[in-house]
Amino acid sequence: MAHPSTYKPSTGIERWFDSRLPLPRMMHDQFMVFPTPRNLNYWWTFGGILSFMLAVQIVTGIVLAMHYVPTPEGAFDSVEKIMRDVNWGWLLRYAHAVGASMFFLAAYVHTFRGLIYGSYKAPREILWILGVLILLLMIATAFMGYSLVWGQMSFWAVTVITNLFSSLDTLIPGLGTTLVQWIWGGFSVGARTLNRLFALHYLFPFIIAGVVILHIWALHIPGNNNPTGVDVKTPKDTVPFHPYYTIKDGFALVMFLILFGVLLFYAPNFLGHADNYIEANPLQTPPHIVPEWYFLPFYAILRAIPDKLLGVIGLIGGIGVLFFVPWLDTSRVRSTSYRPIYKWFFWLFVIDCVALGYLGSQAPEGWYLFFGRLGTFYYFAFFLIIMPIVGLIERPKKLPGSITQSVLGPESKRPTETPPPRTAATAGEGVACGTLSTFAAALLAALAVPGAAFAEDAGNGHGSEIKAQEWSFAPPFGHYDRAQLQRGYRVYKDICANCHSMRLLSYRNLGEPGGPEFSEKAVEVLAAQAQITDGPDDKGQMFQRPGRPSDRFRSPYPNDAAARAANNGALPPDLSVMAKARPGGPDYIYALLTGYAPSPAGFEMTQGMQYNKAFPGHQIAMPNPLVDGVIPYTDGTKPTVDNYARDVSAFLMWAAEPKLEERYKLGARIMIFLLVFAVIMYLSKRAVWARLHRRDHADAT
Ligand code: HEC
Repeated sequence: MAHPSTYKPSTGIERWFDSRLPLPRMMHDQFMVFPTPRNLNYWWTFGGILSFMLAVQIVTGIVLAMHYVPTPEGAFDSVEKIMRDVNWGWLLRYAHAVGASMFFLAAYVHTFRGLIYGSYKAPREILWILGVLILLLMIATAFMGYSLVWGQMSFWAVTVITNLFSSLDTLIPGLGTTLVQWIWGGFSVGARTLNRLFALHYLFPFIIAGVVILHIWALHIPGNNNPTGVDVKTPKDTVPFHPYYTIKDGFALVMFLILFGVLLFYAPNFLGHADNYIEANPLQTPPHIVPEWYFLPFYAILRAIPDKLLGVIGLIGGIGVLFFVPWLDTSRVRSTSYRPIYKWFFWLFVIDCVALGYLGSQAPEGWYLFFGRLGTFYYFAFFLIIMPIVGLIERPKKLPGSITQSVLGPESKRPTETPPPRTAATAGEGVACGTLSTFAAALLAALAVPGAAFAEDAGNGHGSEIKAQEWSFAPPFGHYDRAQLQRGYRVYKDICANCHSMRLLSYRNLGEPGGPEFSEKAVEVLAAQAQITDGPDDKGQMFQRPGRPSDRFRSPYPNDAAARAANNGALPPDLSVMAKARPGGPDYIYALLTGYAPSPAGFEMTQGMQYNKAFPGHQIAMPNPLVDGVIPYTDGTKPTVDNYARDVSAFLMWAAEPKLEERYKLGARIMIFLLVFAVIMYLSKRAVWARLHRRDHADAT
C-alpha cells in the first residue's frame, strides 16, 4: 500500500546509506510498519512459511550439489554416499527430500487460501498470476530434482513424463518425437538428460526466488486481502506488520516445523517410494509408475482422459486454468464466507482434489477409472462452468461494514464496561483455534492420501504375508542392538555374501558408532578374511591380497552375467539399501527368509524356482538360504532360522540406515526445542495481540 515513508535514519551511517541505496528504508516501510489487516487468520501464515521453505531448499540444495555426481553411473551412489559419509549428509538429503513435500503442502494450502477468500480478485490479479507461475516453476523444479536420485521410480517418471510430448505427433507427424529427443539429448533418457536436468534444477529455484520478489511486490501495492474480503477503509482496520504478524507467522512456522521435524527425523521415507531405492534400470519398467504425492491429482487427470494428446492438455490445463480464475469468477464479493451457494461447490472441489490425489496412486481401471473421469470432469467444470455461473446468479450475504466491525461487532455491541466480555484478542483467539484445528485437519487429510497409497502399496503383492515385527530400532527412541547386528553380520558373511554384494559398505563401517561397533582389531580381522583381487601391479598383473578395512563388500561373482548363470538366470541384488528398497523393509526381509514352504497343491512352479509366501508372485530364484544350526552363535542366542532371519534383517536395516541412531537423537533434541519454542512463541503472540485489545478497549471507553 502506498503510504508516506516513516523511516527516520538515526545514525550517520544510516543517513549515508539511505541517500545512496535506501534498502533499510524499504525494509522498514514494507516489512516493519506495513499496514496489514488486523483480522488475518492462520491460513495467511503460509506465505511466510513458503519463503522459509524456499530458503531451506536452496541452502540444503547447494550443499547437496557439492557432493552430487550428475552421471548415470555415479548419481545413485553419490546420493547414498552423502547419506553415509558426508557430515550431516543424511540431514541435508532428508531435509531436502521431505522439504520438497512440505513446500508443496504449504503451497497448496496457500493456493486454496487464495481461492477460499477470493484473493485473486481485483486488484490482485497480477499477484495471483505470479503465484500460479511460482507453482508451475515449483512443479518443474521438483520434477527435475526427483529425477536426480536416479532410482527406478524417478528414472521412469522422467521417461514417462518427457515422453508425453511425443503426443504432439498426432498434430504434426514427427514434431513430438523430435521434441522429445531434443529434450533428452539423445534417443533415450541418459547421461545428457541427467546432466541438463541437474543444471536446470540448480537454476530454477533462483528464478522462483525472483518471481517471489515480484509476487511480494505485487502484494504490497494493494496490500493483503483478508478473511472478510472487505477492503481496508480506515487505519484502524490495520495493524503494523511487525510485531503483530511477525510473531503470528513465527508461531505458525514453529508449528509447521514440528510437523516437518516428525517426518524428517522419524519417517523420512514415508512420503517416498521404496522403488526409488533401486538404482535406475533402463531395461526394467517397474510395475506401477507413480509420481510423488504432490503430483497425483494431475496424474489422475492425465490418465482419466483416453486420448494421449488431450490427456496432456488436461494435465497442463489443470494448472493453466488457475491463471484465468480472476476472470472466471464473476462474483461481486471475494470471500466464500459470504457466498451461500458457491461455498458448497467450493468444498466439493477441495474434496475432489483430494480424491483425485488418491485415484492418481491407483491403476486406472474399473471404478478407479470411472471416478477418475468423474473427478476430472468436476475439476474443470468447477472452474469453467460453476465459477462464472454461480457468481452471476448467487445473492451474497451481507458484508460487514468494515474489517474492524467484523472483529469487534457492530457499534452498538461494542464493549463499554471493564473487563470487556469478548475482546479482540479473545475473539481472535477463538477464530485462531477454530482455524488451527481446520488447518490441522487439512494437514492430516493431505497426509492421509499418500499414507493410504502407501498402505495400499504394502498390501499389493508384497504385503500379503508380511507381519510387522518388533525391532529395537523402532522410532522415536529406538537404537540398534549391537549384539544383534554382530550376529546379523555373521549370517550375512557366512551365507548371503556367497551370492549378494553390499557395494556401499566397507569393513570400516562395522566399527563405526551407531552400528555393530566391532572393535578396531576385530574390523581388521574381519576385513582380512576376504580375498580381494587388486591390481594391476608393476608388471600389469592382477593379484590377490587380504582385505583391508577400507575395502567394500564385493560381489562373489566377477560380473552380473556370471552371477545370473550361477543363479538360474536371476541376479542376486545388492543388499546395501535392500531394507529401504521394498515396502515393509526389515519386516519384508524377515518374512521372505522365513517364508519358504512347499508350494500349495495346484500352484504351478517353474523349474528351479522356490515357493515363498512373502515374495511377490510367490516364486523366487533364491534357494532357501537358512537352516537351523548352520551358523553357531557364541552369545547364547538360539541358532534357529527365526533368529538368523531376524538378526540379518536388523543388520540390513543398519546397512541401509547407518545414521538412524544419530537421526533419532538429533530429532529428540530438535523436537524438544521446537515444542518449548512453540509455547514461548504462543505466549509472546498473545502478549503482543493483547496490546491491540487494550487499544480497542481504550477506543471504546
Ligand atoms: C545361492 C545364492 C543366494 C544366497 C546364499 C542368498 N541369496 Fe538372496 N537372492 C538370490 C537370488 C538369485 C535372488 C533373486 C531372486 C529373484 O529375483 O527371483 C535373491 C534375492 C534376494 C532378495 C530380494 C527379494 C526381492 O524382493 O526381490 C533378498 C532380500 C535376499 N535375496 C536376501 C538374502 C539374504 C538376507 C540372504 C542371506 C541370509 C540371501 N539372500 C542369500 C540368491 C541368493
